[in-house]
Amino acid sequence: MILCILLRMTLTLPKPAARMAVLPPTFFKTLQLKLKDLQAKGVDVIRMDMGSPDLPPPPHIIQALERSAEQPDHHGYQPFSGPPSYRAAWAEFYGRRFGVELDADSEINGLLGSKEGIFKLPLAYVNPGNVVLIPDPGYATYTAGAHFAGAEPVYMPLTAENDYLPDFEAIPAAALERARLMWLNYPNNPTGAVATLEFFARAVAFARAHGILLAHDAPYTEITYDGYRAPSLLQIPEAKDIAVEFHSLSKTANMGGWRTGVVCGNSEVIRTLAGLQSNIDSGGFRPVLDAAVVALTGDQTWQVARNETYRERRDLVVAGVRAAGLNAAVPAAAIYVWARLPDGLDDNRYADELLAGAGVTVTPGTFFGPSGRGYIRVSLGTPTDRVREAMARWQAWSAQH
Ligand SMILES: Cc1ncc(COP(=O)(O)O)c(C=O)c1O
Repeated sequence: MILCILLRMTLTLPKPAARMAVLPPTFFKTLQLKLKDLQAKGVDVIRMDMGSPDLPPPPHIIQALERSAEQPDHHGYQPFSGPPSYRAAWAEFYGRRFGVELDADSEINGLLGSKEGIFKLPLAYVNPGNVVLIPDPGYATYTAGAHFAGAEPVYMPLTAENDYLPDFEAIPAAALERARLMWLNYPNNPTGAVATLEFFARAVAFARAHGILLAHDAPYTEITYDGYRAPSLLQIPEAKDIAVEFHSLSKTANMGGWRTGVVCGNSEVIRTLAGLQSNIDSGGFRPVLDAAVVALTGDQTWQVARNETYRERRDLVVAGVRAAGLNAAVPAAAIYVWARLPDGLDDNRYADELLAGAGVTVTPGTFFGPSGRGYIRVSLGTPTDRVREAMARWQAWSAQH
């Protein structure tokens, strides 16, 4: 009996570290539980919440993975920053696509998807008490990473009135003084907004003037519509003095599950991040990296038809949500429609009721920050016939409310 009590005492699990408390429970985790419940009841749910492309990469990319996996010496650890061929392929892509020259050795660092790099950047550059400037609404990892580094996230509101571009002059002076890092993201998740080179030039000038590391998150530059071409922040001649850009093949090449991305730009930041990374992970899987080289340097023409598929869905969703009484602009890029609810409706409640009443999931705007209040995000990563069905169900449901 005494032995039992002693054993129980010594087996008590320690509490998670205090820093874990700063990570909010994500909307998607809570949604999983609701979906499990609905699935058990046999409800056919159409997922339009997650930004995960439903389409596969084309055969030439998959074949490159297979060929590489057959090589007996392609199964060991790879260089932390990615093999030279991987970094050279990103340099080639940046040169061809944006006219930006990057040194593959010093200005490019491979990532296991851009999300991990986004989370790590504040750990490498921000001290407790510093401020991280974050677009609101914005990708939740900017805030999580800032919190985990002990910094204070300060939101820069993106509104329809300011074309979803932050007003740098509106940043409070006290926050600006403590700011060490600023995130930007165009084409934008969740709003679908885009930025001009003129705006990027202003951002670079502002960051240089205030000694702030500027981080541009650019995973959606290759998903654009109606002839629009998205620029890179690194096209601004002085950008490399103060900025890095994150890119990824998750959306560009439909390779979300493959986990392969990059951070490029200022060589000192790249070196610092690579130092942190070498302590945390050990490079990607060589066949994935070889397939990424093919995705970046091989045939790109397939993306035209892929973007046309998204364009068709975008038009279905914009028309569908408008018919259901929401207000949505037509996005020029990315895979989301950002829709404003009729005045006074709560976005969390609306998303819950839409799921319960129509079996359609969307993401409530407040998940992306306080300025998302009253909005919902609809993702286009769902097969077109299911998008059509979702819109029909949505309209029927809204007609009853
Ligand atoms: C704005 C933004 N940044 C970064 C990511 C992360 O992409 P990945 O880690 O797959 O490269 C996403 C994914 O949805 C995103 O929307």
